[in-house]
Amino acid sequence: MADTLAVITGASTGIGYELARRAAEDGHRLFICADEPEIEHAAEKLRRLGATVETLIVDLSTRHGVDALWERIADRDIDLFFANAGRALGHAFDEQTWEQIKTRIDLNVLQTTSVLHKVGRKMAARGEGRILVTGSIGGFVPGPHDAVYDATKAYLDSLCYALQDEWRDNGVTLTCLMPGPTETPIFTRGQNRLRDAPITEKQKADPAEVARAGYDALMAGERGATPDFGSKVVKMVSGLVPEALKTRIHRAGAEPD
Ligand SMILES: NC(=O)c1ccc[n+]([C@@H]2O[C@H](COP(=O)([O-])OP(=O)(O)OC[C@H]3O[C@@H](n4cnc5c(N)ncnc54)[C@H](OP(=O)(O)O)[C@@H]3O)[C@@H](O)[C@H]2O)c1
Repeated sequence: MADTLAVITGASTGIGYELARRAAEDGHRLFICADEPEIEHAAEKLRRLGATVETLIVDLSTRHGVDALWERIADRDIDLFFANAGRALGHAFDEQTWEQIKTRIDLNVLQTTSVLHKVGRKMAARGEGRILVTGSIGGFVPGPHDAVYDATKAYLDSLCYALQDEWRDNGVTLTCLMPGPTETPIFTRGQNRLRDAPITEKQKADPAEVARAGYDALMAGERGATPDFGSKVVKMVSGLVPEALKTRIHRAGAEPD
């Protein structure tokens, strides 16, 4: 296989790790990054699969972090780019601190857009490249008790569909992965009150299956991937269900006990 590079943000755990694993199994060299040293552990596991792996520990909620990532990859041919790093929050809007809210918006929206702008322009200039953005089916559902998070994902889902249209003739494909609730550490991370909510106890999708669906959609150049039954149903009917009903269903899962 040709020497190809896959860059994955937020690859230490969960969906991002599984996306990296899929890319490794497909024979790509990996460049993986995350905010905590756990990324080195992920790299070790991926190397055991035979992959060549570079790592970077970087806070992608900051401009400095995105600049540091860009410094490492700007002069490389990036074949696959996975904009996956993201954080939820949980808790009622007026009980969250502004710092918590801002960090989510900075990571999920501002800096993800910044890195997509850089990578997208670079791939367009080269005339080829594949990008997968981990949005969420939450982007179709206003989410009481995770309101800012769902709003950031609505932004990403929308951005992806718009850019797919703009980039339809430039050789760059953009796929939006829109998982439903998936069994990853996102629900139980520090400061995330979702760990006290019913959703955390409910059965969720397998991150390996979610990543497989996303990866296959990326390689097929598909626009969107709804990897589980629930996310398919939500996407299909979301325009038909009144917002008040959607918010009530979301609240039942996300409101801390
Ligand atoms: N799990 C779900 O139900 C679900 C559903 C729909 C969409 N998603 C989306 O899927 C993506 C992956 O989440 P996940 O569920 O797999 O959760 P996860 O296991 O918590 O993974 C999140 C990844 O993002 C990294 N990350 C978080 N903040 C970062 C920062 N400031 N700078 C750099 N890296 C950072 C984490 O690394 P560190 O530990 O080093 O911070 C980790 O590698 C997210 O965009 C999430 O919104 C998840």
